[in-house]
Amino acid sequence: MGETTAPPMSSAPSSRAVVAPARVNLIGEHTDYSGGLVLPLAVDLGTTVTWRPVGGATIRLHSAAFDETIELRTDAEASTSLEGWGRYVVAVLRLLLDHGMPPAGLDGEIVSTVPIGAGMSSSAALTVSVGLALARAASYELERIELARIAQAAERLAVGVPVGLMDPASSLFGRKGHALLLDCATEEHRLVPLTPGIALVVFDSGVRHELERSDYGDRRLELERALAAIGTSRPSELDAAAAEEKAAAAGVDEVARRRLRHVVTENQRVREFVGVLEEPGGADLQMLGRLLREGHESLRDDFQVSIPELDLLVDLAYEHGAIGARMIGGGFGGSVLALAQVDETSRLVAAVSRDYAERAGREATPYVCASVDGAHEIDSA
Ligand code: GLA
Repeated sequence: MGETTAPPMSSAPSSRAVVAPARVNLIGEHTDYSGGLVLPLAVDLGTTVTWRPVGGATIRLHSAAFDETIELRTDAEASTSLEGWGRYVVAVLRLLLDHGMPPAGLDGEIVSTVPIGAGMSSSAALTVSVGLALARAASYELERIELARIAQAAERLAVGVPVGLMDPASSLFGRKGHALLLDCATEEHRLVPLTPGIALVVFDSGVRHELERSDYGDRRLELERALAAIGTSRPSELDAAAAEEKAAAAGVDEVARRRLRHVVTENQRVREFVGVLEEPGGADLQMLGRLLREGHESLRDDFQVSIPELDLLVDLAYEHGAIGARMIGGGFGGSVLALAQVDETSRLVAAVSRDYAERAGREATPYVCASVDGAHEIDSA
Protein backbone atom coordinates (compact mmCIF):
# COMPACT_ATOMS: atom_id res chain seq x y z
CA MET A 1 0.00 0.00 0.00
CA GLY A 2 1.39 3.35 -0.92
CA GLU A 3 1.57 6.36 1.27
CA THR A 4 -1.62 8.26 1.80
CA THR A 5 -1.32 11.87 0.88
CA ALA A 6 -3.66 14.70 1.65
CA PRO A 7 -5.76 15.73 -1.36
CA PRO A 8 -4.23 18.71 -3.15
CA MET A 9 -5.59 22.04 -1.95
CA SER A 10 -7.72 23.55 -4.65
CA SER A 11 -6.29 26.82 -5.85
CA ALA A 12 -9.55 27.89 -7.50
CA PRO A 13 -11.30 30.59 -5.45
CA SER A 14 -14.63 29.40 -4.13
CA SER A 15 -17.81 30.68 -5.65
CA ARG A 16 -20.31 33.00 -4.00
CA ALA A 17 -23.92 33.81 -4.78
CA VAL A 18 -26.58 36.45 -4.15
CA VAL A 19 -30.30 36.35 -4.79
CA ALA A 20 -32.66 39.29 -5.39
CA PRO A 21 -36.40 38.61 -5.15
CA ALA A 22 -39.21 39.65 -7.49
CA ARG A 23 -41.93 41.94 -6.15
CA VAL A 24 -45.66 41.82 -5.95
CA ASN A 25 -47.30 45.14 -5.20
CA LEU A 26 -50.30 44.98 -2.88
CA ILE A 27 -51.39 48.52 -3.71
CA GLY A 28 -49.90 51.88 -4.73
CA GLU A 29 -49.51 51.57 -8.50
CA HIS A 30 -48.01 54.34 -10.63
CA THR A 31 -47.50 56.41 -7.49
CA ASP A 32 -43.76 55.91 -6.96
CA TYR A 33 -42.38 58.32 -9.55
CA SER A 34 -44.40 61.23 -8.17
CA GLY A 35 -43.15 60.73 -4.63
CA GLY A 36 -46.15 58.71 -3.51
CA LEU A 37 -46.85 55.70 -1.32
CA VAL A 38 -46.41 52.06 -2.31
CA LEU A 39 -46.99 48.76 -0.49
CA PRO A 40 -45.06 46.02 -2.28
CA LEU A 41 -43.56 42.80 -0.96
CA ALA A 42 -40.64 40.62 -1.98
CA VAL A 43 -41.73 37.16 -3.13
CA ASP A 44 -40.19 33.74 -3.61
CA LEU A 45 -39.26 34.14 -7.26
CA GLY A 46 -35.83 35.61 -7.78
CA THR A 47 -32.66 36.19 -9.73
CA THR A 48 -29.45 34.58 -8.55
CA VAL A 49 -25.94 35.59 -9.54
CA THR A 50 -23.24 33.04 -8.76
CA TRP A 51 -19.64 34.07 -9.38
CA ARG A 52 -15.97 33.37 -8.84
CA PRO A 53 -13.47 36.19 -8.56
CA VAL A 54 -10.98 36.05 -11.42
CA GLY A 55 -8.72 39.02 -10.77
CA GLY A 56 -8.09 41.48 -13.56
CA ALA A 57 -10.64 43.81 -15.04
CA THR A 58 -13.00 41.51 -16.89
CA ILE A 59 -16.58 40.84 -15.85
CA ARG A 60 -17.94 37.81 -17.58
CA LEU A 61 -21.57 36.88 -17.02
CA HIS A 62 -23.63 34.14 -18.57
CA SER A 63 -27.44 34.34 -18.60
CA ALA A 64 -29.04 30.92 -18.33
CA ALA A 65 -32.37 32.26 -19.64
CA PHE A 66 -30.86 33.62 -22.85
CA ASP A 67 -27.91 31.24 -23.01
CA GLU A 68 -25.74 34.20 -23.77
CA THR A 69 -22.48 35.46 -22.28
CA ILE A 70 -21.36 39.06 -22.05
CA GLU A 71 -17.89 40.32 -21.28
CA LEU A 72 -17.27 43.79 -19.95
CA ARG A 73 -14.03 45.55 -19.10
CA THR A 74 -14.14 47.61 -15.94
CA ASP A 75 -11.25 49.75 -17.17
CA ALA A 76 -12.84 50.81 -20.47
CA GLU A 77 -16.00 52.60 -21.52
CA ALA A 78 -18.68 49.90 -21.51
CA SER A 79 -20.00 48.75 -24.83
CA THR A 80 -23.31 50.33 -25.77
CA SER A 81 -23.99 47.92 -28.57
CA LEU A 82 -25.49 45.30 -26.26
CA GLU A 83 -29.10 44.30 -26.57
CA GLY A 84 -31.54 42.94 -24.01
CA TRP A 85 -30.43 41.93 -20.51
CA GLY A 86 -26.79 42.93 -21.10
CA ARG A 87 -27.77 46.60 -21.15
CA TYR A 88 -28.95 46.40 -17.54
CA VAL A 89 -25.63 44.90 -16.46
CA VAL A 90 -23.66 47.57 -18.31
CA ALA A 91 -25.79 50.29 -16.71
CA VAL A 92 -25.32 48.94 -13.18
CA LEU A 93 -21.57 48.62 -13.67
CA ARG A 94 -21.26 52.08 -15.13
CA LEU A 95 -23.26 53.68 -12.29
CA LEU A 96 -21.23 51.88 -9.64
CA LEU A 97 -17.99 53.04 -11.24
CA ASP A 98 -19.40 56.58 -11.51
CA HIS A 99 -20.09 56.42 -7.78
CA GLY A 100 -16.40 55.73 -7.27
CA MET A 101 -16.85 52.07 -6.35
CA PRO A 102 -13.84 49.87 -7.04
CA PRO A 103 -14.22 47.29 -9.81
CA ALA A 104 -13.39 43.59 -9.53
CA GLY A 105 -13.15 40.94 -12.21
CA LEU A 106 -15.51 38.00 -11.96
CA ASP A 107 -16.86 35.07 -13.88
CA GLY A 108 -20.50 34.42 -13.15
CA GLU A 109 -23.84 32.93 -14.03
CA ILE A 110 -27.30 34.53 -13.83
CA VAL A 111 -30.27 32.27 -13.21
CA SER A 112 -33.79 33.60 -12.70
CA THR A 113 -37.22 32.26 -11.84
CA VAL A 114 -38.91 35.63 -12.38
CA PRO A 115 -41.13 35.66 -15.48
CA ILE A 116 -39.96 38.43 -17.80
CA GLY A 117 -42.41 41.22 -18.58
CA ALA A 118 -45.05 39.82 -16.24
CA GLY A 119 -45.28 42.86 -13.97
CA MET A 120 -43.25 41.23 -11.20
CA SER A 121 -40.15 43.31 -11.68
CA SER A 122 -37.77 40.97 -13.45
CA SER A 123 -35.55 43.93 -14.34
CA ALA A 124 -35.13 45.11 -10.73
CA ALA A 125 -34.34 41.53 -9.65
CA LEU A 126 -31.61 41.59 -12.31
CA THR A 127 -30.15 45.02 -11.52
CA VAL A 128 -30.24 44.46 -7.76
CA SER A 129 -28.66 40.99 -7.95
CA VAL A 130 -25.94 42.17 -10.33
CA GLY A 131 -25.26 45.29 -8.24
CA LEU A 132 -25.01 43.26 -5.06
CA ALA A 133 -22.73 40.69 -6.71
CA LEU A 134 -20.41 43.40 -8.09
CA ALA A 135 -20.22 45.02 -4.65
CA ARG A 136 -19.54 41.74 -2.85
CA ALA A 137 -16.98 40.70 -5.46
CA ALA A 138 -15.07 43.94 -4.90
CA SER A 139 -15.51 43.64 -1.10
CA TYR A 140 -17.44 46.80 -0.41
CA GLU A 141 -20.76 47.37 1.28
CA LEU A 142 -23.29 49.67 -0.30
CA GLU A 143 -26.12 51.14 1.74
CA ARG A 144 -29.25 49.32 0.59
CA ILE A 145 -30.97 52.58 -0.28
CA GLU A 146 -27.97 53.56 -2.38
CA LEU A 147 -28.16 50.31 -4.31
CA ALA A 148 -31.91 50.80 -4.77
CA ARG A 149 -31.28 54.23 -6.31
CA ILE A 150 -28.56 52.81 -8.55
CA ALA A 151 -30.88 50.03 -9.74
CA GLN A 152 -33.60 52.60 -10.45
CA ALA A 153 -31.19 54.80 -12.41
CA ALA A 154 -29.84 51.74 -14.24
CA GLU A 155 -33.24 51.01 -15.71
CA ARG A 156 -33.47 54.49 -17.10
CA LEU A 157 -29.93 54.33 -18.42
CA ALA A 158 -30.36 50.87 -19.92
CA VAL A 159 -33.72 51.17 -21.63
CA GLY A 160 -34.82 54.78 -21.13
CA VAL A 161 -37.83 54.03 -18.92
CA PRO A 162 -38.28 56.61 -16.14
CA VAL A 163 -39.29 54.15 -13.43
CA GLY A 164 -39.68 54.90 -9.73
CA LEU A 165 -37.98 53.45 -6.68
CA MET A 166 -40.57 50.83 -5.76
CA ASP A 167 -39.19 47.71 -7.45
CA PRO A 168 -35.56 47.79 -6.30
CA ALA A 169 -36.62 49.02 -2.84
CA SER A 170 -38.97 46.07 -2.51
CA SER A 171 -36.26 43.67 -3.66
CA LEU A 172 -33.81 45.10 -1.12
CA PHE A 173 -35.98 45.94 1.92
CA GLY A 174 -38.64 43.19 1.72
CA ARG A 175 -39.08 40.95 4.73
CA LYS A 176 -40.75 37.56 5.09
CA GLY A 177 -44.28 37.91 6.48
CA HIS A 178 -44.42 41.63 5.71
CA ALA A 179 -45.20 44.20 3.07
CA LEU A 180 -43.03 47.29 2.73
CA LEU A 181 -44.70 50.68 3.14
CA LEU A 182 -42.45 53.11 1.28
CA ASP A 183 -42.86 56.84 0.93
CA CYS A 184 -41.05 57.47 -2.34
CA ALA A 185 -40.60 61.19 -1.60
CA THR A 186 -38.76 60.83 1.69
CA GLU A 187 -37.57 57.23 1.12
CA GLU A 188 -38.90 56.47 4.62
CA HIS A 189 -40.09 52.93 4.89
CA ARG A 190 -41.43 50.51 7.41
CA LEU A 191 -42.69 46.95 7.47
CA VAL A 192 -46.38 46.12 7.70
CA PRO A 193 -47.27 42.59 8.87
CA LEU A 194 -49.31 40.54 6.41
CA THR A 195 -52.52 38.93 7.61
CA PRO A 196 -51.89 35.20 8.19
CA GLY A 197 -54.00 32.72 6.25
CA ILE A 198 -54.21 34.80 3.09
CA ALA A 199 -52.59 33.48 -0.08
CA LEU A 200 -51.09 35.71 -2.76
CA VAL A 201 -51.94 34.37 -6.18
CA VAL A 202 -50.49 36.02 -9.27
CA PHE A 203 -52.05 35.22 -12.63
CA ASP A 204 -49.73 36.06 -15.50
CA SER A 205 -52.05 36.99 -18.38
CA GLY A 206 -49.50 35.83 -20.96
CA VAL A 207 -49.75 39.25 -22.63
CA ARG A 208 -46.31 40.80 -22.58
CA HIS A 209 -45.76 44.37 -21.67
CA GLU A 210 -42.74 46.08 -23.05
CA LEU A 211 -42.01 48.97 -20.72
CA GLU A 212 -39.67 50.33 -23.33
CA ARG A 213 -42.75 51.28 -25.23
CA SER A 214 -43.51 54.90 -24.66
CA ASP A 215 -46.79 54.37 -22.76
CA TYR A 216 -45.18 54.37 -19.33
CA GLY A 217 -43.27 57.58 -20.03
CA ASP A 218 -46.41 59.13 -21.56
CA ARG A 219 -48.45 58.44 -18.44
CA ARG A 220 -45.76 60.03 -16.36
CA LEU A 221 -45.69 63.14 -18.57
CA GLU A 222 -49.48 63.44 -18.51
CA LEU A 223 -49.45 63.30 -14.72
CA GLU A 224 -46.65 65.86 -14.57
CA ARG A 225 -48.66 68.17 -16.83
CA ALA A 226 -51.45 68.17 -14.25
CA LEU A 227 -49.05 68.62 -11.33
CA ALA A 228 -47.33 71.56 -13.00
CA ALA A 229 -50.68 73.23 -13.74
CA ILE A 230 -51.88 73.01 -10.14
CA GLY A 231 -48.47 73.91 -8.77
CA THR A 232 -47.58 70.84 -6.71
CA SER A 233 -45.01 68.09 -6.98
CA ARG A 234 -46.49 66.01 -4.14
CA PRO A 235 -49.86 64.57 -5.13
CA SER A 236 -49.72 62.30 -2.07
CA GLU A 237 -50.42 65.38 0.05
CA LEU A 238 -53.66 66.23 -1.75
CA ASP A 239 -57.10 64.85 -1.08
CA ALA A 240 -59.31 63.91 -3.99
CA ALA A 241 -61.76 66.80 -3.71
CA ALA A 242 -59.02 69.41 -3.38
CA ALA A 243 -57.17 67.94 -6.36
CA GLU A 244 -60.32 68.04 -8.53
CA GLU A 245 -61.01 71.60 -7.53
CA LYS A 246 -57.49 72.77 -8.24
CA ALA A 247 -57.38 70.96 -11.57
CA ALA A 248 -60.69 72.49 -12.64
CA ALA A 249 -59.57 75.97 -11.57
CA ALA A 250 -56.29 75.57 -13.49
CA GLY A 251 -58.12 74.38 -16.61
CA VAL A 252 -56.24 71.06 -16.68
CA ASP A 253 -57.23 68.95 -19.70
CA GLU A 254 -59.36 65.84 -19.21
CA VAL A 255 -56.57 63.29 -19.79
CA ALA A 256 -54.19 64.89 -17.30
CA ARG A 257 -57.05 65.25 -14.78
CA ARG A 258 -57.72 61.53 -14.92
CA ARG A 259 -54.06 60.74 -14.35
CA LEU A 260 -54.02 63.06 -11.35
CA ARG A 261 -57.23 61.59 -9.97
CA HIS A 262 -55.78 58.08 -10.10
CA VAL A 263 -52.60 59.06 -8.29
CA VAL A 264 -54.33 61.09 -5.58
CA THR A 265 -56.91 58.39 -4.85
CA GLU A 266 -54.32 55.59 -5.07
CA ASN A 267 -52.14 57.21 -2.41
CA GLN A 268 -55.24 57.40 -0.22
CA ARG A 269 -55.97 53.72 -0.88
CA VAL A 270 -52.46 52.79 0.28
CA ARG A 271 -53.05 54.60 3.58
CA GLU A 272 -56.41 52.90 4.02
CA PHE A 273 -55.02 49.48 3.08
CA VAL A 274 -52.27 49.79 5.70
CA GLY A 275 -54.85 50.95 8.24
CA VAL A 276 -56.97 47.86 7.55
CA LEU A 277 -53.98 45.47 7.75
CA GLU A 278 -52.98 47.02 11.08
CA GLU A 279 -56.48 46.96 12.61
CA PRO A 280 -55.91 45.55 16.14
CA GLY A 281 -58.79 43.09 15.79
CA GLY A 282 -57.46 41.75 12.45
CA ALA A 283 -57.96 42.95 8.91
CA ASP A 284 -61.45 43.44 7.51
CA LEU A 285 -61.09 41.35 4.36
CA GLN A 286 -64.10 42.91 2.65
CA MET A 287 -62.47 46.28 3.03
CA LEU A 288 -59.23 44.98 1.48
CA GLY A 289 -61.25 43.58 -1.41
CA ARG A 290 -63.05 46.88 -1.93
CA LEU A 291 -59.76 48.82 -2.00
CA LEU A 292 -58.21 46.41 -4.51
CA ARG A 293 -61.27 46.65 -6.72
CA GLU A 294 -61.25 50.45 -6.61
CA GLY A 295 -57.52 50.42 -7.31
CA HIS A 296 -58.01 48.29 -10.38
CA GLU A 297 -60.89 50.40 -11.67
CA SER A 298 -58.84 53.53 -11.22
CA LEU A 299 -55.90 52.03 -13.16
CA ARG A 300 -58.32 50.92 -15.87
CA ASP A 301 -60.45 54.05 -16.20
CA ASP A 302 -58.35 56.97 -14.98
CA PHE A 303 -54.75 55.92 -15.52
CA GLN A 304 -55.69 53.73 -18.48
CA VAL A 305 -52.90 51.17 -18.19
CA SER A 306 -55.02 48.01 -18.05
CA ILE A 307 -55.94 45.77 -20.97
CA PRO A 308 -59.01 43.52 -21.48
CA GLU A 309 -57.11 40.37 -20.46
CA LEU A 310 -56.19 41.88 -17.08
CA ASP A 311 -59.75 43.15 -16.56
CA LEU A 312 -61.04 39.67 -17.32
CA LEU A 313 -58.66 38.04 -14.82
CA VAL A 314 -59.74 40.51 -12.13
CA ASP A 315 -63.45 39.85 -12.81
CA LEU A 316 -62.88 36.09 -12.80
CA ALA A 317 -60.98 36.27 -9.52
CA TYR A 318 -63.88 38.08 -7.78
CA GLU A 319 -66.40 35.79 -9.46
CA HIS A 320 -64.62 32.75 -8.06
CA GLY A 321 -64.41 34.04 -4.51
CA ALA A 322 -61.13 35.95 -4.24
CA ILE A 323 -60.93 38.41 -1.35
CA GLY A 324 -59.73 40.99 -3.85
CA ALA A 325 -57.83 41.36 -7.11
CA ARG A 326 -56.17 43.99 -9.27
CA MET A 327 -53.58 44.36 -11.99
CA ILE A 328 -50.01 44.87 -10.75
CA GLY A 329 -46.94 46.57 -12.20
CA GLY A 330 -46.70 49.02 -15.05
CA GLY A 331 -49.61 47.55 -17.03
CA PHE A 332 -50.31 47.14 -20.77
CA GLY A 333 -49.97 43.39 -20.13
CA GLY A 334 -48.44 41.43 -17.30
CA SER A 335 -50.23 40.08 -14.26
CA VAL A 336 -53.07 40.32 -11.82
CA LEU A 337 -52.75 39.73 -8.07
CA ALA A 338 -55.58 37.95 -6.28
CA LEU A 339 -55.80 37.53 -2.53
CA ALA A 340 -57.51 34.34 -1.40
CA GLN A 341 -58.14 32.36 1.75
CA VAL A 342 -55.36 29.76 1.83
CA ASP A 343 -57.75 26.80 1.70
CA GLU A 344 -59.57 28.34 -1.27
CA THR A 345 -56.41 28.75 -3.34
CA SER A 346 -56.44 25.59 -5.45
CA ARG A 347 -60.09 26.01 -6.31
CA LEU A 348 -59.55 29.65 -7.29
CA VAL A 349 -56.49 28.86 -9.41
CA ALA A 350 -58.30 26.07 -11.25
CA ALA A 351 -61.51 28.04 -11.87
CA VAL A 352 -59.83 31.27 -12.99
CA SER A 353 -57.35 29.43 -15.23
CA ARG A 354 -60.13 27.40 -16.86
CA ASP A 355 -62.43 30.37 -17.52
CA TYR A 356 -59.59 32.58 -18.71
CA ALA A 357 -58.46 29.98 -21.25
CA GLU A 358 -62.02 29.69 -22.47
CA ARG A 359 -62.80 33.39 -22.65
CA ALA A 360 -59.44 34.93 -23.55
CA GLY A 361 -58.31 32.08 -25.79
CA ARG A 362 -54.92 31.91 -24.08
CA GLU A 363 -53.41 30.38 -20.98
CA ALA A 364 -52.74 32.25 -17.74
CA THR A 365 -49.80 31.09 -15.63
CA PRO A 366 -50.60 31.09 -11.91
CA TYR A 367 -47.97 31.67 -9.22
CA VAL A 368 -48.87 31.12 -5.58
CA CYS A 369 -46.31 33.38 -3.94
CA ALA A 370 -44.88 33.58 -0.46
CA SER A 371 -43.25 36.68 0.98
CA VAL A 372 -39.50 36.46 1.52
CA ASP A 373 -36.58 38.53 2.82
CA GLY A 374 -34.93 41.06 0.53
CA ALA A 375 -31.75 40.49 -1.51
CA HIS A 376 -28.95 38.68 0.31
CA GLU A 377 -25.98 36.40 -0.10
CA ILE A 378 -26.76 32.70 -0.19
CA ASP A 379 -24.80 29.50 0.01
CA SER A 380 -23.41 28.97 -3.48
CA ALA A 381 -22.96 25.22 -3.09
C1 GLA B 1 -43.09 49.53 -13.04
C2 GLA B 1 -42.00 50.47 -12.55
C3 GLA B 1 -42.27 50.92 -11.11
C4 GLA B 1 -43.69 51.44 -10.93
C5 GLA B 1 -44.70 50.46 -11.54
C6 GLA B 1 -46.10 50.99 -11.51
O1 GLA B 1 -43.05 48.33 -12.34
O2 GLA B 1 -40.76 49.83 -12.59
O3 GLA B 1 -41.33 51.90 -10.73
O4 GLA B 1 -43.82 52.72 -11.48
O5 GLA B 1 -44.37 50.13 -12.87
O6 GLA B 1 -46.54 51.14 -10.20
